[in-house]
Parts: sequence; structure tokens; C-alpha cells
Amino acid sequence: MKIAVTGATGVQGGAVARLLAEHGHDVRRVTRNPTRPGDVRGDFDEPASLAEAFSGVDGVFLMTPLSGPAEPAQGIAAVEAARHVPHVVFTSATNADRGTGIPHFDTKAEIERYLAAHHPHWTVLGPAAFMGAEGDVALPIPPALKLHVVAPEDIAAMAVLAFEQPERFRNRRIDIAGDLLTGPEMAAVRGTAFVEVPMSQAEVYSRDLAAMFRYLTEVGLDLDIAALRAEFPEVGWHTYAEWFRGRALPKRT
Ligand SMILES: NC(=O)c1ccc[n+]([C@@H]2O[C@H](COP(=O)([O-])OP(=O)(O)OC[C@H]3O[C@@H](n4cnc5c(N)ncnc54)[C@H](OP(=O)(O)O)[C@@H]3O)[C@@H](O)[C@H]2O)c1
Repeated sequence: MKIAVTGATGVQGGAVARLLAEHGHDVRRVTRNPTRPGDVRGDFDEPASLAEAFSGVDGVFLMTPLSGPAEPAQGIAAVEAARHVPHVVFTSATNADRGTGIPHFDTKAEIERYLAAHHPHWTVLGPAAFMGAEGDVALPIPPALKLHVVAPEDIAAMAVLAFEQPERFRNRRIDIAGDLLTGPEMAAVRGTAFVEVPMSQAEVYSRDLAAMFRYLTEVGLDLDIAALRAEFPEVGWHTYAEWFRGRALPKRT
């Protein structure tokens, strides 16, 4: 299959592009700055460039950058550009469709609604926080709070499965995570410290992210990891410890 991957120089898109290539698919890596064979130029702020980047492909992996209030327009322009693409897989965020009030979740919900209303064949993946490996685990959450996390490689495995088994994923929204653990548990795996960042400090850094951590603390995500593993065993879901120990050296090409 020929698949256009947006955000291909980033975490999610990079993992998706690599796995698609490993599976023998023809990957069109969409970036604002093409540098290597297989790259095509596409800018969310220039819809015509996206239409060009998506022409003739069988599928589009759609991510949207953290662009604040510009995110819905960027995502909607991308959906429009993909109107004639047989299958669009959009990566959103866990429970973004629940009216959380978290700005960068609600912007994604707008894109989800537009996609579902205007495209005949879509899949929405709702990843939890991405597993990360660097530095202390410094978060504005209480130490006993369990967080859902997902390996970027598992997001990619779900996306690739969706392209390869389109009917199984037709017009479905699936929240995804591979583990549920506390900040101190994450820090122990990493061999670092857990630092509980005061919410007032988080607010100064980003009101949007602070709103997310407040939601995670006060409401929490609704995501059943056991059910997900049972339905999609072929993804080979990683716990945080498995991912951390087995992670490859950074491959953000
Ligand atoms: N981090 C988490 O824990 C988490 C969890 C759930 C959801 N998310 C969501 O994931 C998204 C970010 O994904 P990521 O972390 O994989 O990305 P990333 O590593 O931050 O990379 C950003 C990507 O966006 C592309 N990009 C930015 N502006 C663009 C534009 N105007 N036109 C075309 N491409 C543009 C960049 O491509 P070029 O620079 O090459 O053009 C790059 O590939 C955000 O929407 C975030 O809310 C994150």
C-alpha cells in the first residue's frame, strides 16, 4: 500500500513510517522540510501542499501538531485534503471525545467530529501519554496517582494494523495505552527521581498541560488496558518496564 504519513519527522509519525516500511509498504513521509528520498513537502498551514502530498495514496496517517487554537483548522484542512483517500487514521488523545475541557484535547475532538462527518472511512486512535526515557519524572500529579502510558511503537503497530485490516478498524475510535503506573514507579524503572511539580508552577509553564494533569488527577482516564490487549494481541503491547529496557536508541529520522 502507498501511505502518506504526516508528522513523519516526529515521535508518532516517525514510528509509523518506520513500521510501514518494515512491512514493505510504500511510505510518503510528509514534512515541511524534505531532506531524503521518500520525503514529500506538506505544511498544515498550506492545504494545497497537503492535497498534493496525499494524491494517489491508499491511506493517510494524520497527526496534528500542538498548535493551540490553530489545531482544528489545520486538522480539518488535512481531512479535506484527504477526502479522496480510501482510509484516514487520525491520532488524537485518550478520551479527547469526552468534553474534557483540556484545550489540546478539545481541539482534537473537533477534528475527530469533522473526520467522522466528512470521510467515509476513518479510524481514530486515542493514545495516552507517550512513554519517555529522559530525565527525572517531574509531573504535577500526586505520587499515588496511576497514569496511562503508551509506547510510540505500539501506536505505530495499531496504525499499521488499521491500514492492513481496514474493515476491522472501519469508523472506529480506539483509546490506546500499554501500561498504568505511578510517577514513582516510572522513576524506579528509569533509575531516576519522581518530582511532584507544584500545580502553580505547571500553570506558568503551560495552562493547557496543567489542565490535562488536573483532569488526570480529578477525573482520570477511562481506558481498559486488559480489553485492549485481548482485542489486539498482535500489537505486542509494552509495559513501561518492557519498553524502557528494550527501547532502541533514538531513531527520529
Ligand atoms: N506527547 C504525548 O504524551 C502525547 C500524547 C497523546 C497525544 N499527543 C499529541 O501528539 C501530537 C504530537 O505528536 P508527536 O509528539 O509525534 O510530534 P512531535 O514529535 O512533536 O513532532 C511534531 C511533528 O509535527 C510536524 N509539524 C509541525 N508543524 C507542522 C506543519 N505546520 N505542517 C506540517 N507538519 C508539521 C513536524 O514536522 P516537520 O517539522 O518535519 O514539518 C513533526 O514531524 C500533538 O498533537 C500532541 O497533543 C501527545
